[in-house]
Amino acid sequence: MAKSMTASLQVQHLTYGEEVDFTKIRKFRKELQAALGPKGIKLSYMPMILKATSLALLQFPMLNAHVSHDLTEMIYKGDHNLGVAMDTPSGLIVPVIKRVQQKSIIDIAYDLQDLQVASSAGKLTEEQLSGGTFSLSNIGSIGGTFMVPVVTSPNVAIGALGRIQMVPSYVDERGERASVDMIDRGQAKVAPLSLMTVSWSADHRVVDGATVGKFSNLWKSYIENPSLLAMNMR
Ligand code: COA
Repeated sequence: MAKSMTASLQVQHLTYGEEVDFTKIRKFRKELQAALGPKGIKLSYMPMILKATSLALLQFPMLNAHVSHDLTEMIYKGDHNLGVAMDTPSGLIVPVIKRVQQKSIIDIAYDLQDLQVASSAGKLTEEQLSGGTFSLSNIGSIGGTFMVPVVTSPNVAIGALGRIQMVPSYVDERGERASVDMIDRGQAKVAPLSLMTVSWSADHRVVDGATVGKFSNLWKSYIENPSLLAMNMR
């Protein structure tokens, strides 16, 4: 951690935050879990979030890239090797799920489970800990609502997920967040909404905020509409 954070000191960070409606993906997870339960697979949100990230990276390959130390080269990576920050008895480690772009949500769930078992046994290999092209940190499983993640060079971006919370919100007749116009016209009602914050940090030397914002909008569309997520999977 000391070495990679020291290397990150050269990165000029920009951080972009967003709120995401988790209502539909919670329901989607319950349905998938009911189907997978008999097979002995525990499905957390992470496999769905990782798949949504990979689908969004397909449209924004510059966020799945490595940048050279002297900034003369940016190498777009074909494989989405997604690091997952894990809190372990020996501290933070970031094992990598390889080639997420080729995997289903279930494949990712199996890989994540294997990495969690290996990490709690202290048996992760060098291969499992290297080659990451982008990473995600689910700090919300511990408790915080918001975190500014630190980009690990040579990667150019990283995401952090906050705690999913039930909050009162203005919604329309379908239970989705109401527009300002609807609220002004008195056509919205207040209802509980499942909400999570996401924050993306990127290396501002090579990535601009608009790119991160557009990537985040696409990612959010997959999380808020799991049917889109399912539709875009291979
Ligand atoms: N908000 C609220 N609850 C959450 C959540 C979130 N963002 N993420 C997970 N949970 C819930 C899960 O739904 C699960 O509860 P359930 O079984 O009742 O449904 C519970 O927390 C445990 O989830 P977990 O087993 O941790 O699975 P996961 O796949 O969501 O997360 C890890 C796996 C490895 C990411 C996580 O265990 C971890 O280590 N997080 C910490 C990362 C970290 O240290 N980041 C800081 C880096 S500087």
